[in-house]
Amino acid sequence: MSAVCRSVRAVTPRIVKTVDEMLGLSARYSLERGITGFVPTMGSLHEGHLSLVRAAGELCDRVVVSIFVNPGQFAPGEDLDAYPRDFDRDLELLTELGVNYVFAPSPEQMYQWGYQTWIEVEGLSQLLCGKSRPTHFRGVCTVVAKLLNIVAPSLMFMGEKDFQQIVVLRRLIEDLNFRTRIIRCPIVREEDGLAMSSRNQRLDPEERARALCLRQALQMAQTAFENGMANPARLRNIMSEHVRNCGGRVDYFEFVDPASLQGVEHLEPGTRALGAVFVGKIRLIDNLEIQ
Ligand code: PAJ
Repeated sequence: MSAVCRSVRAVTPRIVKTVDEMLGLSARYSLERGITGFVPTMGSLHEGHLSLVRAAGELCDRVVVSIFVNPGQFAPGEDLDAYPRDFDRDLELLTELGVNYVFAPSPEQMYQWGYQTWIEVEGLSQLLCGKSRPTHFRGVCTVVAKLLNIVAPSLMFMGEKDFQQIVVLRRLIEDLNFRTRIIRCPIVREEDGLAMSSRNQRLDPEERARALCLRQALQMAQTAFENGMANPARLRNIMSEHVRNCGGRVDYFEFVDPASLQGVEHLEPGTRALGAVFVGKIRLIDNLEIQ
């Protein structure tokens, strides 16, 4: 990554399409000096992803970005086919940032014929998003475990936008003795406060305006807490009503301990407020730390 600092013209990253090639490269760079940073993504990159790549570039000697829309984490009927994809644009953005390797395998590369192994972090995966997407985290855990084995990074950069994903993957890493450490990066937002997400581009203009209700509801909880309200059930009612008034549909609002993801009885500074809302067909998530 330091290459981008030294040269004016960005060098195109090495594009790696097979698991065997990536395994060969990681075996080689693991013997060399330096820290390998890894940013796993499903592509259709935006500033949220790029902030992780920049953070990796600052801390690491080489940066690997994976682009893989992982079928394993989409349930039947979810938006796997509609998930936005734009490899050429992604590559341009990653070239500008001086990324060293882009690992972009096909589904057949990652799940070869006869594939049968799944990794499940029990408990944590069933909470919050896991309630309405019961197989989602099993898909995430499985693909990330495979990616860690293939890429062999020292550090993996992940966004707090997917707060539960970080907590689940921390558990996975600790339980299965992976050598990688997760570096948590803050949520990047649009100017009006909407958390950036690849799915935002699927919102029509009217839905895009309504999508703000999720962030607004979370901020309402923060304001209400500042005014002395700490009861999760009462806050949830206020937030849900706001979302309904905006024409959205609440999947959940929860107030949890940030490490265990267990619901709290009373909010306190450090409590994490998380929400998921449907605007039209699009499911959006966001969260904030109560202060
Ligand atoms: P994806 O949704 O592409 O996100 C890749 C990474 O970018 C995740 O760590 C996510 O938290 C981060 N990210 C997305 N939007 C962000 C924002 N607005 N601000 C900061 N970070 C943001 O998460 C996944 O892919 C997949 O589940 C994956 C881990 C790649 C496994 O398939």
